[in-house]
Amino acid sequence: MKIGVLTSGGDAPGMNAALRAVVRTTLSYGHEAYGIYNGYKGLVENNIKQLDRNDVGQILNRGGTILGSSRLPEFKEEAVRQIAVDNLKKMGIDALVVIGGDGTYRGGMALNQMGINVIAIPGTIDNDIASTEYTIGFFTALDTAIDAIDKLRDTSFSHRRCTVVEVMGRDCGDLSIYSGIACGAEIVVTKETGYDKESIIEQVRAADRMGKRHAIIVVAENITNVFDLAKDIDANTDYAARATVLGYIQRGGTPSSFDRILASKMGVSAVELLMEGKGGLAIYTNSLEIGSVPIQEALTAKREITDLYSYLQKLN
Ligand code: F6P
Repeated sequence: MKIGVLTSGGDAPGMNAALRAVVRTTLSYGHEAYGIYNGYKGLVENNIKQLDRNDVGQILNRGGTILGSSRLPEFKEEAVRQIAVDNLKKMGIDALVVIGGDGTYRGGMALNQMGINVIAIPGTIDNDIASTEYTIGFFTALDTAIDAIDKLRDTSFSHRRCTVVEVMGRDCGDLSIYSGIACGAEIVVTKETGYDKESIIEQVRAADRMGKRHAIIVVAENITNVFDLAKDIDANTDYAARATVLGYIQRGGTPSSFDRILASKMGVSAVELLMEGKGGLAIYTNSLEIGSVPIQEALTAKREITDLYSYLQKLN
């Protein structure tokens, strides 16, 4: 088989780890791997190169994507996608792994409907793909946001300030709510919670009455202008207020251990599905459920042998 792989949409830490897993797994089963550069743009422009195992060496720990990425709104047009399909057919590429967010999924689904077997891997910091509990890159971006908010807390505490911090996520509040929990934010504002300025100001006043030296408000992007909100808090409470937009810093950096392992497992699984002749599928994980069992059971249950050993063999 000839298996193509691309990364598309906003880059996410761990995309390289997924790419490495796709290429190495393809080669370990004796097939050929092809990298498509700059997302769907590269597919249309025929920017495709065969990859060997060394081409994906030294990238497991690198942020961004060595294949490059892009957003290509024109890919919605069937005529544009037909060029991509023709390019794949000319090169004899039978199947495709696409790594990205919902825009990438839509492109992949459309190609699948045009006769190319496509498997989609969730790679986005936003964690906004409903079918999977976590997307590749989410936890690394979360760690970046947490690190920044912890630093903001130091200065907030020192100056007795209210810090308003804007976190990415497009239309999804996960980065905000998770960082709010991890950083002990007083208030988290997302599309899901709704935005009510008066209630925020009242909650900040309540934090003051509780004797808090500082207040942290995490606001998801695309909700409100955080600089204006900080001015209103400054004018209407006893805290001085400052706003910070974390921005693109959240997209970069070395992938966390979780993202490397998630990406590696998903990459292996994507290739194995293609080898079974499957397409039109999106990989998911659903593993961090919280539950409870009797303590007696916790002490006597046998730990299952981890399946990670079988993944390791395909990744070398
Ligand atoms: O999807 C990832 C993301 O970083 C979102 O959090 C953000 O809204 C968007 O991409 C920014 O897109 P662009 O890179 O096109 O500016």
